[in-house]
Amino acid sequence: MEEIEARLLRAISETPQAVESDAFAKSAGVEHGAVVGLMKSLLTSDFVTAEEVPHSRLVLTAEGREYLDKGSPEAQVFAAIPAEGATKGELKRKLGALADVGLSQAMRQRWVAVDKAPAKAPASEPAAHGNAGKKDKKKDKGENDRIIREADGIVDEVQQQLHAVVSGQALDAGVAEALRKRKLAVAEAWKTYRLGCGPKFALERRRAAADLTADMISKGTWRDKEFKQYNFDALGRPPACGALHPLLKVRAQIRKVFTNMGFQEMPSNAFVESSFWNFDALFQPQQHPARDAHDTFFLARPATTPLERIPADYVARVRSVHESGGFGSTGYGGPWREAEAEKNLLRTHTTAVSTRMLYALAARGFRPARLFSIDRVFRNEAVDRTHLAEFHQIEGLMCDEGLTLGNLVWTLQTFFKRLGLEKLRFKPAYNPYTEPSMEIFSYSEELGKWMEVGNSGMFRPEMLRPMGLPEGVNVIAWGLSLERPTMILYGIDNIRDLFGHRVSLSMVKRNPICRLGYSSGEPGGSGGE
Ligand code: PHE
Repeated sequence: MEEIEARLLRAISETPQAVESDAFAKSAGVEHGAVVGLMKSLLTSDFVTAEEVPHSRLVLTAEGREYLDKGSPEAQVFAAIPAEGATKGELKRKLGALADVGLSQAMRQRWVAVDKAPAKAPASEPAAHGNAGKKDKKKDKGENDRIIREADGIVDEVQQQLHAVVSGQALDAGVAEALRKRKLAVAEAWKTYRLGCGPKFALERRRAAADLTADMISKGTWRDKEFKQYNFDALGRPPACGALHPLLKVRAQIRKVFTNMGFQEMPSNAFVESSFWNFDALFQPQQHPARDAHDTFFLARPATTPLERIPADYVARVRSVHESGGFGSTGYGGPWREAEAEKNLLRTHTTAVSTRMLYALAARGFRPARLFSIDRVFRNEAVDRTHLAEFHQIEGLMCDEGLTLGNLVWTLQTFFKRLGLEKLRFKPAYNPYTEPSMEIFSYSEELGKWMEVGNSGMFRPEMLRPMGLPEGVNVIAWGLSLERPTMILYGIDNIRDLFGHRVSLSMVKRNPICRLGYSSGEPGGSGGE
């Protein structure tokens, strides 16, 4: 193409305004489109000017292309008539739709004619049937007319004209008009360009530099370089951007629900906990099955967190409530072993975080609080389509004077309504650290059944009083998994498609935004808090 460009520039310099793109393409032996492409690039560097020259040319229609191959309909009709002639009906059966046009054209050319000699069969009919015969004739529109050849041989001029059109030969105006009338060809507009010298015209175009390099600057060669213009209309590359995992989207929405209800987020980033904060401070007995290695991941290194790190008086009160009770409780009896409380583990619930926060709240001097967290927990469980060994817990708690089970029910109804779960039922349950405890069920209209959606309760005095929370201060709390609502919202039925090594990255990239069934009304329809 560089050679063609040089030739084109030379031609323009010799006869400015007289170089025509199509003529030049033909003389250079290249496609017109290629010359137009070259011209456009020369235009952007102001090398040339271009003036449009409109043209019209004939192109064949689909019908025209067919006759180019098979001959015009009249020629096909002529070829289809044997020496003894054929009836119109026979011709139609043989040639189909084009028989009619072909016949009328062939007759006009006097290539064929209707046989005037009386046909044998009708002539022998008795005269009495003559009328009936005529009637039939009318009905069949001359189907039985016999057509015979009149010319000995023909020249298919139409086919020749079609050839002339495709090979770009000039046609007589009358012929072109006739082809258009028969819809064998149509006029098509096209453009060529008359090229002249532009403001920066030269016989040779230096390649414009696309980048300013360090080398050009240090050697000073940038001074006599031509630089490529920026194309501000170019579409940029699609940015490689990240996508939020559905769990993170749902977490963001639930976080909003909590903050709208006046809850503050707890720092939940420590996955490793000591048994003390995960179990003992919650009044969970040391021989509880959940503390077995079958249910809990214990750490090998570091295996323990020394109890000295925790204020001794608090540890002493926890020991005492386990061993001998207090606050209306008899305790578990037997020795409370420090070694058991020092064992490190991957936290089995975010209630460990709540416990630390409540202790800190008591130590600072009690003030009412609403706290939540949404973060990861670990359980040594067999993985199946609904269980993972690590998952996320949503946890909320309210700490205030005189809170009751009624407050808990109201709070749960408000919270779950904002997640889109309106119909709730509560079932008495057991947790070592809450009394009373309630499992939360929600009615799924889709599945037509009650589903367990969470667990809740009022923290026991055996947990709260050793922390130093004053008499009369209660804590209502609840917990649920983040995975369950996410799977329902995103229609995922195998938890391993949501979390873990099998997750498809395209699922993460393409999943829609999260919408919870938010409704502003409060439980009971009274509206407003
Ligand atoms: N910690 C409980 C669980 O892991 C949930 C819960 C939190 C229950 C708070 C009661 C109160 O299932």
